[in-house]
Amino acid sequence: MFEKFFKTNANQQEEVDLDENKIPTHIAIIMDGNGRWAQKRHLPRVAGHKQGMETVKEITKAASKLGVKVLTLYAFSTENWKRPAAEVNFLMDLPSKFFDTFVPELVENNVKVNVMGYVDQLPPKTRQAVFDAIEDTKECDGMILNFALNYGGQAEIVSAMQAIAEKVKAGALQPEDIDEQTISQHLMTNTLAPYANPELLIRTSGEERISNFLLWQIAYSELVFTDVLWPDYAPANLAEDIYQFQKRNRRFGGLNKEEEK
Ligand code: FPP
Repeated sequence: MFEKFFKTNANQQEEVDLDENKIPTHIAIIMDGNGRWAQKRHLPRVAGHKQGMETVKEITKAASKLGVKVLTLYAFSTENWKRPAAEVNFLMDLPSKFFDTFVPELVENNVKVNVMGYVDQLPPKTRQAVFDAIEDTKECDGMILNFALNYGGQAEIVSAMQAIAEKVKAGALQPEDIDEQTISQHLMTNTLAPYANPELLIRTSGEERISNFLLWQIAYSELVFTDVLWPDYAPANLAEDIYQFQKRNRRFGGLNKEEEK
């Protein structure tokens, strides 16, 4: 049974009852606002990332308890290398800090770790931490916690096109046989099928951009933008955002049942 969550309006709180039959199967989150959270407290930016890591733990457990199948978190983009070296180094140390302490709880919650991105370009220590976590959780068959690390949606599409072009060149594939499914199958989310595409994409911190995240996969995702900064994002905020999702009318380009009559 689900707990009741409190939805926070400007001046009041109202109880939210989530429909347990309409929990989004795949939720993707752009975890934004760590820097601003730290700045507001006169702390260095990295303090925001550290607190953001704690949020990752709480949201992972909450999503798993709600029955989400895949939780994809945008932890580091192919563009984040442009940040100052000290910040990049701090971010690259986070996976080992995170998994060193959190793997037992992941196993306890039956959560399996997955990674998506250009992992071979990560520092060996970061890569190893992620691979160890994948190994340690490989028997878990509950929610998949999918980290996008050194991930970029355009680069992912370029890589998919290159792989498809190689098959065409080798005569293994005819250009006229290329369809949406062919492209999906060459993306990094292919291993998440049948939940490759997020049903709900959340971005925290008030920014309303996609920032090169899952460009192909979000064709029909519901988008929710919340003002909450990622380090402040709590399970109740996740419930609120799922509640927004549940109120949406998803038509996938078609009509509502009543409109068809
Ligand atoms: C965006 O906030 C956040 C990031 C680029 C990093 C996200 C990483 C975490 C939340 C920790 C991940 C944890 C693990 C286990 C890998 P920002 O720095 O752009 O914030 P700002 O827009 O306020 O400056």
